[in-house]
Formats: sequence, structure tokens, C-alpha cells
Amino acid sequence: MLDALTPLDTGVSASLDPEDWSALRALGHRMLDDMVDHLAGLRTRPVWQPMPAQARRALHKGLPLAGGSAEQAYADFRHLVQPYATGNPHPRFMGWVHGGGTAIGMLAEMLAGGLNANLGGRDHAPIEVERQVIRWAAEMLGFPPDASGLLVTGTSMANLIGVLIARTAALGPAVRNEGLGAARLVAYSSAAAHGCIARAMDMSGIGRAALRLIPCDAAGRIELDALARAIAADRKAGACPFLVVGTAGSVDIGAIDDLAGLAAVCRRERLWFHVDAAFGAIAMLAPRIRPLLAGIEAADSVAFDFHKWAQVPYDAGCIMVRDQARQLETFAAPAAYLRREARGLAAGHPWPCDLGPDLSRGFRALKVWMTLKVYGAARIGAVVEHSCAVAQALAARVDAEPALERLAPVALNIVCFRYVDAAGNLDALNADIVADLQEAGIAAPSTTTLDGRLVIRAAIVNHRTDVADVHALVDAVLAAGRRRGSPVSLRGAQRRSNPQRMDARSTRPVREIASSLRSSQ
Ligand SMILES: Cc1ncc(COP(=O)(O)O)c(C=O)c1O
Repeated sequence: MLDALTPLDTGVSASLDPEDWSALRALGHRMLDDMVDHLAGLRTRPVWQPMPAQARRALHKGLPLAGGSAEQAYADFRHLVQPYATGNPHPRFMGWVHGGGTAIGMLAEMLAGGLNANLGGRDHAPIEVERQVIRWAAEMLGFPPDASGLLVTGTSMANLIGVLIARTAALGPAVRNEGLGAARLVAYSSAAAHGCIARAMDMSGIGRAALRLIPCDAAGRIELDALARAIAADRKAGACPFLVVGTAGSVDIGAIDDLAGLAAVCRRERLWFHVDAAFGAIAMLAPRIRPLLAGIEAADSVAFDFHKWAQVPYDAGCIMVRDQARQLETFAAPAAYLRREARGLAAGHPWPCDLGPDLSRGFRALKVWMTLKVYGAARIGAVVEHSCAVAQALAARVDAEPALERLAPVALNIVCFRYVDAAGNLDALNADIVADLQEAGIAAPSTTTLDGRLVIRAAIVNHRTDVADVHALVDAVLAAGRRRGSPVSLRGAQRRSNPQRMDARSTRPVREIASSLRSSQ
């Protein structure tokens, strides 16, 4: 039991609203001006810079008991946070597969924060906005207009939802009560599938071991014959195949599975067909690239992100499901405190919380809706085509440089290559080159491993990235490679395996390399 509590009698209101709205307004305007300047001046700053220990320490404070001023909190943001962010809005950020965001998306985030709507359920306009976004996604994918869907954090979550829906479709809704029991469910994806598919199998309780990784052809696409053989072998062994996951844009090289071929296999074998189209789905808006995705419209479910190629600020993932009944039977869970009504605020069934795991949900849909309304699908499609053209220009430049080797075909927007004009450990050398470029703030590619070899991976996703940026990337890789490829630096690279020496080695050359790279630009 709580002891008797009395309302604050100190003369101070419990409300957290500002006492002086005009001061708040002035601060807000300044924040807006500063962030517009930040976006307008991206090119004048390093792509990324490591966070100094001092700034890191300054963030490690105990729970503030008494509050401070909004001015001070904003000053801390400006000094301790803003300069050391990921850097993905910068045109020379090419690491992993990150979208660049837009100023419109940023403004939409502010509007959504102001409304503070909870999109778990009930009857209100923000949910209608999300339903509109889902209808647009259905149109983009060639799904039926009444297809279902939900905005989520990202494709990892969307893939998990896809696996859970496929599981329920295979075993029936009783699986939600009784668990998997003796069912030996088995799923299939290519060996190039993103790791979040295996994680989805793990989190769903089906288990990673029940995911068969089917080999890929030279273009990185799942081998359909091998898939058919694996399904037959599993059936023969008494297992229960239930799901095939196709990939539209593989994380390493951007390969697109034969989706129409996979759809045919799934129809024939009566398996759920899910597509991980994390970034590839948005290529459906690009007329010259769309044909590569033929077959996606036949999927039972598709996972993708608006925060990648559609440039919506993080986070904005999406799961699309052809048949809403399958989604409802997987997630809807009636509760007295969530009772639906025919009228009033509790109307509007089904609610988004019936379609996924989250009850409380923010207004992610607004930034997607505003992005599509302001730029239009055609312009986003043009960004996709531009990214692919820039990737082609990068591939051509790499092919023309004797010191570089390209290690994968370029199906879409990802180019994998490495510096080879050096003796010694090329994996360590290329990892160092990438870290040098990142720490110098010149460009931020990432690395991956192809056929056991570490490669530099440039994913062109940001709408701001142009041909000149990929030439600058190559110039910087060549300069860093030449510098590190000298016998002295190579001996340094070989010491990499000794962790005690790593600190000294990895910080010393960076400043040198940064200045030489900058002067070579
Ligand atoms: C093919 C693929 N699937 C899944 C993911 C995971 O997406 P998210 O980071 O939005 O969870 C990625 C991320 O790059 C990806 O490329």
C-alpha cells in the first residue's frame, strides 16, 4: 500500500511543460537551424570521427536527480553527440547498407514527436497514415491491394515476423499455445542470406540448425536444383519443410535470387515463400531494375526497410503479408483491457498490435508517408538507379586499376574489391586500409569476407553519393594501400595479431595517413 501521497505543495506544477514557452520556441528554432546547417554542410565535415575518451567519459554520469536547463542539455548534444554520430548521412559513407536520410524525414520525426501518438491501436488518423503506407507498399510490390503489413524497427524484426507467420501457417494457430512439440520444421535460404534469418529461426524456437543454407551460383543466387534436392531429402527423413526465404539484394554483394523460380518451387512444394528484400524491395520503384525482382509479387510475405534505399530516417522497417488472416492468427491476442468497440476511440479493429509483437508503437509511418508524398515514388526509384550507376562507375574504376581486384559481380549497388599490390597478409592490409579511411574521415566503406578473403565493401545507398565520391574512395584506398604496402608498414600489419601492440600501431599511422590522403585528394 502506498502511504498517503499529497499533490506537490511546493508551488511547483507537476507538469513538465516549460514555464516560458517563448524560450522553448527560441531554442527549438535554433535546434532546427543548426540541424539544417548540419545537413547542408555534410560535405565540409569528416564522414566519421572516433569519439574521444574525454567525450565518452562526459556521457558516463549517474542518473541526474535534479534536472538542468534545456540549453545545457542541447549544448551537451552539440559537443558530445552530434560530432561523433555514425556518419551515414555523409555522401562518402558507403559502409554496410545504410540510408542517408533526408531533411523532410527529419522534420516528420519532429512532427511525430509532437503528436506522440501510440499506434498500437484505437481509432485515429496516425493509424490511417500507416495503413496508407502499407497500401503503397503493396502497390510497390505488386501485392493485392488488401494485403496486410506493419511498420517495424527494421528487416531483422520483419524477418522474424515472417518466420513466425510461416510457422503458424504450417502448424496452425494451436502452435501458439502448445509450442512446436515434436514438429520438425525445416526452412531454406541461400548460403548468402543475412544472419538475421538464422537469428529469427533461433528466436522463434525452431532453431538455427533447422535452417538449410543452400549453395549459391557464381552470381550469388540460390541454386534451385540444390534447393529441390534438400527439400526432398528432408521430407524423406521425416522432417517438415515449411518455409523458403528468398533474398532480393544479398547483404554481401547485392545478388538477387531467382524469385520467380523460388515462387514456383514453393507452389509445387506447398511452402511459405518469404522474401528478405531489406534494400532490394525499393528497387521495385526503379523501372530499369524492377525486372530483376520478378517473382517478388508472388511471395507470401516480404520484409524490407524504408530506412535504406527509400532514405527515410532510422528506423523504418516493414513486413508485408499477402493474406491478413495469416498475420492475425499469428499475433492477435484479445485482452480485457484492449477491448474493441464499434464506436469511440476503441473502434478501428483490427489494430496494429494484432499484426505483430509490439503493443506500444510510435508514429514511424509519418516520416515514410511524408518522404513518399514529397519526393514521389518515381524520384525514389531514380535514386535507386543513380546508386546502381554510381556502383557501376566504381566497378569500372576498380577494374581499371592494376593495384585493385574486384571480387564479385555488381548486380545492384554493392562493389567488393581489395588492394592487391602488396606482399604479405592482404586481409590485414585491407582491413587496415578501411580503418584508415574511416579514421581519416575521408570515406567509410566496410569489409566482408568472400571465399575466405577479406574485401573492401562499398554499398552505394545514400542519395547524396555521386561518381566523384567513389573516385575519391578509390584514390584514398590506393594512397593508403601504397603507404601501408611498403615493407615497413607491412611488418606493422603482421603485428596485427598481437593485441598488445595493436593500440600503438593502429593510432600512430592514422594521422600521417589522414594528412597524406587529404593532400592527395
Ligand atoms: C539482406 C539484408 N537482410 C536483413 C538486413 C537487416 O536489416 P535491418 O538492419 O534493418 O534489421 C540487412 C541489413 O543490411 C540486409 O542487407
